[in-house]
Amino acid sequence: MSKKVLAIYYTQSGQLGDIVDHFTAPLIEAGISVEKVSINLAKNYSFPWTTAGFFSVMPDCVLGVPAELAHFELKEKVYDLVILGYQAWFLSPSIPFNSLLQHPDLIAILKNTPVITITGARNMWLNAFVKVKKMIHATGAKLVGNIALVDTHPNPVSFVTIFHWMLHGKKERYLNIFPPPGVSDVDIKHTSVFGERVLPHLNSNEWGGLQEELVIEGAVKLNYNLMIIESVAGKIFAFWANFIVKRKNRAAWLKVFKYYLLIAFFIGAPIILTIDAIFFKLFSPRRIKAKKEYYLNLN
Ligand SMILES: Cc1cc2nc3c(=O)[nH]c(=O)nc-3n(C[C@H](O)[C@H](O)[C@H](O)COP(=O)(O)O)c2cc1C
Repeated sequence: MSKKVLAIYYTQSGQLGDIVDHFTAPLIEAGISVEKVSINLAKNYSFPWTTAGFFSVMPDCVLGVPAELAHFELKEKVYDLVILGYQAWFLSPSIPFNSLLQHPDLIAILKNTPVITITGARNMWLNAFVKVKKMIHATGAKLVGNIALVDTHPNPVSFVTIFHWMLHGKKERYLNIFPPPGVSDVDIKHTSVFGERVLPHLNSNEWGGLQEELVIEGAVKLNYNLMIIESVAGKIFAFWANFIVKRKNRAAWLKVFKYYLLIAFFIGAPIILTIDAIFFKLFSPRRIKAKKEYYLNLN
């Protein structure tokens, strides 16, 4: 009997849908039944975003508050593999994806099922992945692979271009000077190679070694500086989120957070990286290796 795969994801711009299409293409070509489900919120966010709308989701994202999903249906009760596509929002799983992971219909099919996570982020997906991993393990599913696609341009460049994309809705070059935002077309097309690696594991239901194969093919690339920024920023975002939800004038505080983020990004982050380079980077190779393994690890 043909293997059954569910690929379920949320996407605003269509980027993650494209990624999932390329990733699953080799499975479909091999005759595997792939059910693709694109979910939405009952009350979806407008895309493109307004600046205020964009920042307004920060507290609920960081605190993992779910929202109501629009009705979706799954054809099967049992799948041989579930592919979960998600994006990072404010260093956390996006609200629609976080809501999906808490949805009883998905939780019911995840138990004892092999799961592969695939993300299309700007470049800061590590904290979100740690949260997603914990939620997947809590359902009783077996995480067997992780793929993280990012914008590979320098951090300040992708910071500017993603805002242009999110606030104007088009994945195009800002001012015709900046590079295109988001995951490159080349990297999106390359995800079909990851699908090819998955195929024999799916057919044999033997999942050992898949993640190592995916990493060799470039499915996860860790950047030391981004890792350092994220580990500091994750704690700071948690502080801000907890602080802002308790305030009556949320909108005003979200504006303060917006300016804080700009200062932290363009001034704070370079300072943190300089301090790290002088005092820690050269002297703690073991700490760095352990940190990298923590993020590569599926447990
Ligand atoms: C509200 C919001 C916050 C975001 N925060 C992050 C982030 O913390 N880290 C990151 O790498 N990308 C971040 N992104 C980019 C998304 O992860 C994603 O790449 C982009 O929204 C395109 O995804 P799509 O397929 O849903 O259109 C953010 C996007 C939005 C809309």
